[in-house]
Amino acid sequence: MINVELLSAIHDSAVGRCRLCGSTAKTLLDLGSMPPANWLMSTHIQAIREFPLVLEKCDCGNFQLGYCLDAEDLYTHYNYATPNSPSLSEHYSRLIRHLEQNGYLTPDSNVVEIGSNVGRFLAALRPRVKSVLGIDPARNIAEIANRNGIRTLVEFFDRRVARDVARVEGTADLVVARHCLAHNRDPYEILDGIIELLAPDGALLIENAYAMSTLQQNEFDQIYHEHMFYFTLHAVRTMLERRGLALVDVMFSDIHGGSIACVAKRSMSNAAITSRIAAELWRERELLDYGLAQRFVDGTASIQAQLKSTIGDLRDRGCVIYAYGATAKGATLMNSIGLTSRDISYCADSTPIKQGKFIPKCGIEIVSEEWAFANPPDVFLLTAWNYKNELIAKARAAGLERVRFIVPVPDVTIV
Ligand code: TMP
Repeated sequence: MINVELLSAIHDSAVGRCRLCGSTAKTLLDLGSMPPANWLMSTHIQAIREFPLVLEKCDCGNFQLGYCLDAEDLYTHYNYATPNSPSLSEHYSRLIRHLEQNGYLTPDSNVVEIGSNVGRFLAALRPRVKSVLGIDPARNIAEIANRNGIRTLVEFFDRRVARDVARVEGTADLVVARHCLAHNRDPYEILDGIIELLAPDGALLIENAYAMSTLQQNEFDQIYHEHMFYFTLHAVRTMLERRGLALVDVMFSDIHGGSIACVAKRSMSNAAITSRIAAELWRERELLDYGLAQRFVDGTASIQAQLKSTIGDLRDRGCVIYAYGATAKGATLMNSIGLTSRDISYCADSTPIKQGKFIPKCGIEIVSEEWAFANPPDVFLLTAWNYKNELIAKARAAGLERVRFIVPVPDVTIV
């Protein structure tokens, strides 16, 4: 049930308006009312606050949430700590190599990361650059980063913070904004700060889940209140152009179900890259013009129906099911089909700050991987499907030879 008092916390005045280009945005998928996915509960029956979860589409190529919560409500105390993952470390190495090979990063670079979380990306960068500095609004998360030796300021990044940092530390040769611009209602506020902070020839790295992968692979569980935008290349270009920045490079990867990493600078010069970007924009336009968004809506309904019946059948046969990965995605996935702790007994997760808490609404308790492996289920629902190979390997290595895994996307399969 939506708590009417708290509806004032959401910005519904701009529903139906593209927050990147200002045109009309139409509802594409309405997932009803949901609690913010990372508002983990401390007890099974805690009262929860729910807000509309609606994906909108604009003809400019932007996808966004219709109703946005305040960043303060979502990020002041945060329950997401970047996990220690071999595939993530490999991804960082690939990104850094690309930045170095293309001259966006040198041993003399001063790097600032916005939304740096516990500092894993900066820790990978640190041996290769002159200095690293993190900025993150979540005090509990920044404390972990600082304890691990990654200097991190506790701030919501904006122009004021940017000016202060530039004055004290100097301008930044590389500003990193991974999973950050799309996690705020108004990315221009952050972008304006970045422009203040960026050295004249500096580079900005923007990385986020890639909307085209989200749509093509039916990843409807990527929709939750923190994800206020779903970036296409078109969307990133619109955003940058409106602030006079040039999109100078783009990289795609499989991480997090498909991600896009873009590099922007104050000016553009490379003709080969310009034509590659043009080709990617053309590819996106073709897919969007030929019904991709509607196929995603249909694919979502089909996964929801299949998953519900698969889990119902397994439960009727007496199988014990746990979720694996207390992801925000998992909260959307399970709540969107009404699963509860009667269907899914526990959720295994490696993050200490999540363990002992409960996924909001569905009320599933989060336990350590060690506990889950010592008290194994018959089946895991892979709610962290983006780490599929490593989670399955981890369970097998722990001796769980017979346990099965339900992979929910791009369609429901059992491994
Ligand atoms: P994410 O998909 O939003 O990054 O979240 C992944 C979640 O999965 C996070 O809560 C940590 C958890 N996880 C494990 O429990 N074990 C692992 O080995 C990895 C890589 C992640």
